Amino acid sequence: MHKKTIRDIEIKGKRVLVRVDFNVPLDPETNAISDDSRIRAVLPTIRYLVEKGSKVILCSHLGRPKGRVVEELRLAPVAKRLSELLGLPVASAGDCIGPEVEEAVSRLNEGDALLLENLRFHAEEEKNNLEFAEALSRLADVYVNDAFGAAHRAHASTAGIAQYLPAVAGFLMEKEVDFLSKALTEPAHPFAAITGGAKVSDKLGLLENIMGKVDSLLIGGGMCCTFLKAQGYSVGQSRVEEDKLDFARKLMDKAASAGVKLILPSDVIVAESFASGVPCKTVSVSEIPENYYVMDIGPSTVDEFATEIRKCKTVMWNGPMGVFEYKEFRNGTEAIARELAKLEATTILGGGSTAEAVEELGLADRMSHVSTGGGASLEFLEGKILPGVEVLQDK
Ligand code: 3PG
Repeated sequence: MHKKTIRDIEIKGKRVLVRVDFNVPLDPETNAISDDSRIRAVLPTIRYLVEKGSKVILCSHLGRPKGRVVEELRLAPVAKRLSELLGLPVASAGDCIGPEVEEAVSRLNEGDALLLENLRFHAEEEKNNLEFAEALSRLADVYVNDAFGAAHRAHASTAGIAQYLPAVAGFLMEKEVDFLSKALTEPAHPFAAITGGAKVSDKLGLLENIMGKVDSLLIGGGMCCTFLKAQGYSVGQSRVEEDKLDFARKLMDKAASAGVKLILPSDVIVAESFASGVPCKTVSVSEIPENYYVMDIGPSTVDEFATEIRKCKTVMWNGPMGVFEYKEFRNGTEAIARELAKLEATTILGGGSTAEAVEELGLADRMSHVSTGGGASLEFLEGKILPGVEVLQDK
């Protein structure tokens, strides 16, 4: 990465404000943290700062409280989980700016850690308000961004703050940027991209940007229906983005002329309604019944996709192959995840639902890199410059 990191600056005894992405999923019934991967992902940065004798001030958003205090979105439970994972006490502050927080920071000793309250309880955060950024900056001597998942947002704590403090990257930010940029600029070939998820419209920029870089492009998930329709197949009741049919045709033409192998499903699992526990069957894509919905890729497609990725030295995967949340339609996603877990190749997974799926399957540790950013990794792979990366000091 061409940005400075915490290795490049003096941090001993310094008050270090670390922007992290503790926007963790919460159980809707109990409000308990249902997946702590984003907390575990920043432990190397926090441990390093603690060991080097910094006074560590962590800040994050949680959810979208839109400038109001929402009790369920307080960060104290995250501080508790972080403290358990670190094996060190982590204090919680009642706010993220103001005299009381400044007072709490002034009491920190070298190696102490404090987690500020949810940044988005202040509307100024999302507006990138510079007075708010300046108030945050008063707490620290140095700013570290380790919140890759929020780096596509130009907010006060990810962008504005860099006007007031020397700004460098943490280890997670460095790892994310290194893995994703290497895939885009110097991947080991053969290089395959697997894309899935519900909508083509979410992946337009990604598909366009990777077209010139990959050797093969495998398309599954709900989005494959738009491609199948563009090839003249009937996809039953499945959602087709009519306004993206032209995009799909052009992408297939581009692949053909660039020598990129574009592989669509040859068979799919279909169900009578878009639900769990309903009658379903495997059919060829040329025989999708009029009143059925495409719910997953079929077994022949799994074999075809697996054969292709087994040849690869780099595989990037973004988006589930089927309706993973219903157990009878998770086979395609699970089979691809298991195949990737066996590969002697660089395997890079986009965040969001792909990351959730491999976490749930217990396979995340078997991938080279599982991004902690959903929107951020997608924007990065689209070739966009992320504001939270751009503002950091160059090496
Ligand atoms: C995410 O979960 O993708 C990040 O934390 C960003 O959250 P946001 O979409 O609410 O800005």
